Formats: sequence, C-alpha cells, structure tokens
Amino acid sequence: MRFRFAVLSDPHITLDSTLVDYPGRAHFYEISRQALQAVLADLRTAEIDFLLIPGDLTQNSERVNHAWLRAELAALPFQALVIPGNHDARSPTGNSEVLGLEDFAHFWQNFGYSGSTKLYYNYEVLDGVRVLGLNSNQIQGAHVVGAIDAEQLAWLKIQLASYPQVVWLVMVHHNVLEHLPGQAHNPMTAEYIIQSSELVDTLRSHGAQVVLTGHLHIQDIARQDNLYDITTGSLVSYPHPYRLIDWQTGKLTVQSRQVSTLPGWPDLLEVSLERMVRGSERYMARLLTLPPLNLPEAEARHLAPQLRYFWSTIAAGDARFDLRELPAPVRRFFERFNDAPPADNDAVLPLSGHPELAPSGAGVHHKD
Ligand SMILES: [Fe+2]
Ligand SMILES: [Fe+2]
Repeated sequence: MRFRFAVLSDPHITLDSTLVDYPGRAHFYEISRQALQAVLADLRTAEIDFLLIPGDLTQNSERVNHAWLRAELAALPFQALVIPGNHDARSPTGNSEVLGLEDFAHFWQNFGYSGSTKLYYNYEVLDGVRVLGLNSNQIQGAHVVGAIDAEQLAWLKIQLASYPQVVWLVMVHHNVLEHLPGQAHNPMTAEYIIQSSELVDTLRSHGAQVVLTGHLHIQDIARQDNLYDITTGSLVSYPHPYRLIDWQTGKLTVQSRQVSTLPGWPDLLEVSLERMVRGSERYMARLLTLPPLNLPEAEARHLAPQLRYFWSTIAAGDARFDLRELPAPVRRFFERFNDAPPADNDAVLPLSGHPELAPSGAGVHHKD
C-alpha cells in the first residue's frame, strides 16, 4: 500500500480589511491568500490523495477569513482536513465577526468534522488510513494553553484501540515532541508543546507513528523511538514551506517545497527573511538573559546582533551554525541547536512494522 498527501500549516488567512497591524509584526499576513493559492495550485498537479492543515487557519478567527479559506478548500479535487490552532481559538463563544471555538466543528463540517460538535475527530481518509484530528487549544482567560483534556485523551485511547490495523496520521496544532533542546522548560518555547507523557505513550503504544503539528512556525522533524512529530513552518513566515509526504509500508518519504516568489513579491524570501531577522534581535537578547545563560542585560544586548540569523536558520530547518565569534558558554549553548537526525526538510523516515496494514485499495481518492 502507498499513498501521498500534503501538509501546509499556519496559513493565517487575512483579508486586507481584517489586517491587524502593529510595529514589529513578524507574520507576513499580507501575502497569506496569495501564498495559499500558490500552494494549492501546485498541489492540484502533485497527485496527492489529501491535504492536512494543522491549525492557525486565520489571523484571529475572523469569520470572513475562515469563510475565504473554506471556499478555497471546498473547490479542491482532493479532501482537505483541518483542525483549530490557537489563533482560531480567540474565544470560546463567537459573535457576528469572530468564529468561537465552540462553533469551529460546525463551521468546518466535511473537512474532518461530521455531525458532532466535538473539536476532535477520527476520519477515514482512505481505506485503512485514518486521520485523528485533535484540539490542543485550552482557552484560559486571555491565553490559550496547549493541552489535550482528559475527555479527549480518553476518546483518543478508545479510537486507537478500536482500529488496531489501520495507518494513523495524527494532526494537532501544538507540538507533541520537543523540536528545540529544552523546549518544554524554556519559558520562551514551553507554550509551543503539549507537556503530556501520557499522550506520547498512548500514541506509541498503539502504533501511531506519525504526528503532524504546526504552531512553532519552523521546519523540524523530531523522533522519539517509533514516533515522529513532523512540524511544518507557517505559510506566512520565512521560509514559506509546505510538505509532500509519501507513505509506503516501512517508510515515510518527506519532501519540502516553499513559496519563494509571488506576483508583486519577486523577492518574497529575501523580504520575509529580512523581516524575521529584524524582529529577532530583541527575542535573542531576552533568550540570553534567561536560564541557563543568565547573561546581564547589557551583555545580552551586545551579543544579540551576532545571533540575528539564529531563528531564521532554525525556521528553515536542517540548521548548522557557525558561532566561533561568540564566547564559549554562549557558543556551546547555541550549538546544541544544530540539527540532529532526522533531516527536517527532505527525509526518509523508517516506520516500524505493523500487523498486515490495511486492505488493498488505498490509492488516489478524489472527491466528486
Ligand atoms: Fe499557533
Ligand atoms: Fe501560527
């Protein structure tokens, strides 16, 4: 059996009339619709069976932005499946302008959701291939915390146990495995990961090997034994990536592509790299003051310019840093971020054996 699918993440669709601008804005919301359309045009000829979008569909859950994206996805010749990200969970209840999280499943009927108002689903996307779409957004006041609640976790265990012989693809907005060293413990990155060993153990013990995540806006593939967390960068930030993934018995082949130019933006990659670099100096200065480096603020501000390409290099995936100019403790800290196998953009990932996986018949399925 083999099948092929695409992943794009964090498209953050923003109609011009809804753009919320502010100084230092990192996300390139202006190109969200053009970037999405460029990717979909490419995918129409990429012979894929389906498309997964692990959340942050919109800038801030504006109804018009959800509606625009839904119309684009409904016109595709293949199935698209979505889940909410924290930007689609601005409030539990909606109003005439904003889609509330409690209305998300109803609004996105036929894109994974069917009938239920629950924010998670088990969708048979091909014969013997099931997508588990999860909701990792827990609204707590003005904040969204990345977590899977007890009810959803109990449901997940039942689903995994009920279909012992299928291929699982799990889609969830927040990361499941660490993509950065110490991610779960650094105050600047902890919010991007669901801190649940029970979730990881549940997936691993039931043979779910492939998790697709977003949120962090970087290209990275993390592995823990037989479990992969493939996180895909945002379409509205450098390097504007998306992925094509081939599943066949025993291995997963991941290929990445990117949107590098758009009409009106011939130098899109350069412009968006520059925007990310410009915004990252303050971020790096703060990171230097936090444990374990704990540098005084003046020294952090002095060193931050030398690290201005740090985050864009992480975002691009397959990071290799040359940090010889930095003091030894700082250099050692950041060298830990050099990418470790597997590769992040183009990789062949071994999958462990399954019982006889799925009946034959999985192949190219098109919506009618
Ligand atoms: Fe997010
Ligand atoms: Fe995002």
